[in-house]
Amino acid sequence: MKAEELIAKTPNLPVPSPAATRLLQLLAGDDRDNQAIINILKQDGVLSTKVLALCNSAAFELAAPVSSISQAIMYMGYEEVHRLVMAVTFGGALGSNLAGYFIEDGALWRHSLLTALLSQTVVRIVRTSQTDPSVAYTAGLIHDIGKLVVSYALDADKQELIRERVERGGRSLLEAEREVIGADHAEVGACLLRKWKLPEVLVEAVANHHNPPVEPRLELSSIVHVADMIAHEGGSSPGWSSYAVRTNEAVVEAMGLTTDHVEVLIISAYDAALQVDEALSAPV
Ligand SMILES: [Fe+2]
Ligand SMILES: [Fe+2]
Repeated sequence: MKAEELIAKTPNLPVPSPAATRLLQLLAGDDRDNQAIINILKQDGVLSTKVLALCNSAAFELAAPVSSISQAIMYMGYEEVHRLVMAVTFGGALGSNLAGYFIEDGALWRHSLLTALLSQTVVRIVRTSQTDPSVAYTAGLIHDIGKLVVSYALDADKQELIRERVERGGRSLLEAEREVIGADHAEVGACLLRKWKLPEVLVEAVANHHNPPVEPRLELSSIVHVADMIAHEGGSSPGWSSYAVRTNEAVVEAMGLTTDHVEVLIISAYDAALQVDEALSAPV
């Protein structure tokens, strides 16, 4: 079955609000206009309430309560506000259990948050990186969103077929998904993002997160690929299919990452995992 058909058959898929979509489009553009961000947030009641609630929560220890979005952005910083908007937009769906992959409640969300934080770390480590850290964060957060669709298509027989191809046939997870249901979670994720009119740079990164091309090198796709692999190394491996994930060493090399860099990233994955666990246990 094609990616579009699989998407059409999946119930309860999240759809980003118009405000979240506009914010993501703005983010991917070259000139980020703070006033435009404030105006977009103000028009979305749910988002602005959440931003104000977080800003006034104990986490920010403000002397006096904040009541406007512009003040909240000033105190929290744009990156924090962006992280919150993305959590509100995708947290519910990515936090649910995905029976097709044997992923329990919260496990994919944890893996997504960890990959998002590590994507930002990779940006910092790759000195030549031109990528905006918030764009890297978002791409890392939604890289596995196609699993919401593929999981729905995987009944017990198909799960077994995929497992068999991976365990005995030596296929990668994506190859096995394509053979059994006709599309893989990376292309389905990209198709979903395109349907939501999210920026092409995010679509491309999600499409390539398991196998980014080495030449021409796609910066964001490579960043998410490395972050995803390190997230698995750092113990965030949701579901049975995780062992079928393979690192593309040529991409790691093309990014100029040495074994020392990779070591630093693995260590930072443990810190990031603690940060994620803290964030998940904190009430928003
Ligand atoms: Fe994936
Ligand atoms: Fe992943």
